[in-house]
Amino acid sequence: MNTPDLTQQPIAEDGSFEVQLQKSGQVLFVPKDQSILKVLQDAGHDVLFSCAEGVCGTCITPVVAGQPDHWDMYLTPQEQEKGDCVMVCCSRSQTARLVLGI
Ligand code: FES
Repeated sequence: MNTPDLTQQPIAEDGSFEVQLQKSGQVLFVPKDQSILKVLQDAGHDVLFSCAEGVCGTCITPVVAGQPDHWDMYLTPQEQEKGDCVMVCCSRSQTARLVLGI
């Protein structure tokens, strides 16, 4: 049986999802009430951030697979549509897994 590609599956009904870090392969669970930024920090990753409100763009992080759910006010609609980066301080995922290029 094939394992489903979580980057193509919708997120869980409770709003949680996973992020996978491309370089290490590490998979982290993002509960509905925590930001990707917080989950990365709790796992010991040093992520640059400033406003933590989706305004400044400091926390921009590349996305290599999965579809971000953008909540920031930094990216243009066209950039958001492209889906190749995400503001980890506020944005979430539309897919069960988001693979970050870090
Ligand atoms: S820290 Fe400012 S946009 Fe994320």
